[in-house]
Amino acid sequence: MAKLCIALDTNLHQALELVRSLRGYPLVFKVGYKLFVSHHRAITDKIKENGFELFLDLKLHDIPNTVREGLLSAKDLGADYVTIHISAGREALRQAVEVKGKVKLLGVSLLTSLGEEDLKDVGICEDREKHVMHLANLALSVGLDGVVCSGYEVNILKQKIEKPFLAVVPGIRLEGEPAEDQKRVVSLEEALQLGADILVMGRSILRAENPVKRVEEILLRLA
Ligand code: C5P
Repeated sequence: MAKLCIALDTNLHQALELVRSLRGYPLVFKVGYKLFVSHHRAITDKIKENGFELFLDLKLHDIPNTVREGLLSAKDLGADYVTIHISAGREALRQAVEVKGKVKLLGVSLLTSLGEEDLKDVGICEDREKHVMHLANLALSVGLDGVVCSGYEVNILKQKIEKPFLAVVPGIRLEGEPAEDQKRVVSLEEALQLGADILVMGRSILRAENPVKRVEEILLRLA
């Protein structure tokens, strides 16, 4: 069954409240820059203490030695999943794999917020699908556990890549919700049908009138 990962892109108060209220549900909590930079262990320890999986969305992108050291620190925090930009290159990926231990290392292909014009801006003129496939093949050949991609690419990756891997899909919106800064959004059911293993959802849950109820509804739809 696919897992739900809640992106805790919020303040410490709401994050701790959600973690406390959702105890016992099969969830992954994703901590990104907003919380991690300011609050660090105040949130990561609580996620682990409450029995959840910790997804540290560090999106590592640096020289190999710096990536390696960063991953070692993430491991010390008890991270279950850590992200790294595949475009950091083969050697950075290789060094990360070397020290990852049980951490599931997820390669970020292209951000789901990048549309066609944004890609041209940063010099990516190759067909998007081809580019994501290229990055995914590199990541998985080096030994990463999974790839973060949009719902638009997950299907083709699952079809073309023989090796089993975790497909992590952000950019999911419920009926009638605005895409906001995301350019490549899919619905919950589409993400599932297309082969997502981990569905990352932030604002759809955080901005709900009753976030706990919203999570319960989503979990029912995933079952
Ligand atoms: O609020 P929303 O559901 O759009 O949040 C999506 C989350 O997934 C954010 O935390 C964002 O950093 C993350 N993410 C993404 N696109 C990627 C990788 C991660 O949106 N390619």
